[in-house]
This record gives sequence, structure tokens and C-alpha cells, in this order.
Amino acid sequence: MYNPDAKRYNTMKYNRCGNSGLLLPAVSLGLWHNFGDTGNYDNMVQMCFTAFDNGITHFDLANNYGPEPGSAEINFGKIIKENFSAYRDELIISTKAGYGMWPGPYGDWGSRKYLISSLDQSLQRMRLDYVDIFYHHRMDPQTPLEETMGALAQIVHSGKALYVGLSNYDGPTLEKASRILEDLRIPFIINQNKYSIFDRTIEKNGLKQKAKELKKGIICFSPLAQGMLTDRYLEGIPADSRIRTDGRFLNENEVEQNISRVRALNEIAKRRGQTLAEMALAWILKDNYVTSVLIGASKPSQILDNIRAIENTTFTDDELKAIDNI
Ligand SMILES: NC(=O)c1ccc[n+]([C@@H]2O[C@H](COP(=O)([O-])OP(=O)(O)OC[C@H]3O[C@@H](n4cnc5c(N)ncnc54)[C@H](OP(=O)(O)O)[C@@H]3O)[C@@H](O)[C@H]2O)c1
Repeated sequence: MYNPDAKRYNTMKYNRCGNSGLLLPAVSLGLWHNFGDTGNYDNMVQMCFTAFDNGITHFDLANNYGPEPGSAEINFGKIIKENFSAYRDELIISTKAGYGMWPGPYGDWGSRKYLISSLDQSLQRMRLDYVDIFYHHRMDPQTPLEETMGALAQIVHSGKALYVGLSNYDGPTLEKASRILEDLRIPFIINQNKYSIFDRTIEKNGLKQKAKELKKGIICFSPLAQGMLTDRYLEGIPADSRIRTDGRFLNENEVEQNISRVRALNEIAKRRGQTLAEMALAWILKDNYVTSVLIGASKPSQILDNIRAIENTTFTDDELKAIDNI
């Protein structure tokens, strides 16, 4: 029987998500990798315990997380049922739809048909009555924005999601979507986008500034560039690393191309008394634009390391310039 740490709320920082009533932990845990059929179930359970014991209340999923697609939701549903049923009201669980999930024309993109049936499937897999946040996972250039936003509205009205979010939207589309959802009086509160020292797209496409202007939260995914912005690859490619266990999204070439920059950043982190992972996360949290950094992990110790990022999120101008130069 799991007994969460009684001191779990003592050290985590909680940030308000835009101007909503929802507070999110500065560090959240994503289940994209290591929670599918190829992961080790006991390790998944231990990672969820470590997260919750240290104040990580937010767990992020999507319909297609696996492999196989859907299996991360199934495994997480089992973990919740076996250990967290008594703590559901202390958890913020999110899922998404927007990428290819089932064959045929209704299992992808942003139609009302796809979003509503996908969330029903996700709830069944996770054995939940509702999710806290439901996201449209990516912009759909073919479906009218009004239809996609209308589907999100229907989902909230049905009680199957408390809040809605948008993922991988750019600044101008976010603004249009936000206006539609505001007219529909739907609690759209959060954007989920890629952001790291290595990937500044949301600074360039206007999302970072626009979200602040519209008083919406931002949660950043792949804040460690899938492990590159850590000590993981400083001495070669470990056998248990993401590159070796699942090379679909990060490969050896990318690491080779970036390793000298990683080493230079690691020296700055050392001078700050942080690990590179801690510094990379602190860098995102430094200016209060971002509500939460959405980390992935393959072991509980990584979660503990990453949480320590919140202890120092202040950077000198010289450190910021040096990081930008690298
Ligand atoms: N909305 C979207 O389109 C989208 C897209 C991608 C991700 N996401 C979300 O964002 C979450 C995080 O993405 P991500 O997994 O790419 O994030 P990430 O935090 O950039 O990378 C996580 C990986 O970094 C390594 N790592 C983490 N902490 C470490 C530490 N302290 N020291 C050394 N290595 C460490 C681990 O790699 P090893 O496995 O090698 O140990 C871990 O699997 C996902 O789970 C998902 O919820 C959303």
C-alpha cells in the first residue's frame, strides 16, 4: 500500500497557470517515453512515487504515448488504480489528441469526430471519469479552427475535462483560438510547446510573448532536449539511454553535432554549482514566462536531480550571454 510522503508539499514551487485558478508544479512529469509496453512497470511505479512524494502533482500523457500507442495511458491507469485512487483530487492529469491514433480518416488531426472519440478512449484506458486538462496536440491546417475549438468546448461541457490546452500552436493561431474559446466561455488556460536552451522556436514564432499577453500559462516540453542538456552523453552513448532504447526521436548524429556545446554548457553549470540538467531547467524558469517545465525521466534519480533546478533560477547577465553565445 503506497503512503505518500507527508512532507510532499514542503519544497515544490507552484505557479499560477496564466490568470486561471489552477496552480501547477514548477516541474511536471511527462509519460511520453519509458511508460509504454517496452518499459519496466516497477520502474514506472517508482517514478510516479518519487514525483508525487516530491510535490510533482502534474502527470502529462497523450493518446499516442507508448509504444504501442495507448499503452502509456493503460500503464498509468493501472498505477493510478493500484496506488493513487485516494489521491485523485491531488493530481492534475492531462492527455491530448491531434496525431495519428487509429486507421482511417477519423483518427488524426482536429475534427470534432476525432477529438471527442479519442478522449473517450483515453478515459477508458486510464480508467478515469475525467482529465484535468485536455489538449489539442497540434494545429490542423484543414479543419476550421471553430470546429476544433467547438469540440474542446463540448468536452468541457460534458465534464470529461476541466480545462483545455493547445499544443504546438504558434502565436497568431493561439490568439485566434483564444478569442473563439473566450466567446464560448471555455477555460483555455495553457499552451504546451517545445522550449529549451537549444530550441528557441516559441521566442521566434511569438508564442512566448503572446501567451503572456493573453494571460495563458506555458508548459514546456523536451526542456532537456531529450537528454542532451544533461550529463547523459558526456562520456559517449550509454546502453540504457533514449538513443539506444528508442532511437526514433533522438539519434547519435544529433548528439555528435551538439556535444561540444553540451560540454561548454556543462562548465557553466558547474560554476553555478548545478548539474547541467538543473541549469537547463532553471534557465527556462528564470523569467516567469513559463508555468512549468515538463520533464521526461527513465529513472527516479533523474526526477530528484531535476526538481533541484528550482533552488536557483537566477542568472547573471554574463551567464545568460555565455549561454546564448554557445
Ligand atoms: N506536446 C507535444 O507535442 C510533446 C512532444 C514531446 C514531449 N511532450 C511531453 O513532454 C515530456 C517530456 O519530454 P522529453 O521526455 O523529451 O523531455 P526531456 O526532459 O527533454 O528529456 C527526458 C530525457 O532526458 C534524460 N534525463 C532527464 N533527466 C535527467 C537527468 N537529471 N540527468 C540525466 N539525464 C536526464 C532521460 O533520458 P534517458 O532516457 O536517456 O535516461 C529522459 O528520458 C513528455 O513526456 C511529454 O509529456 C509533449
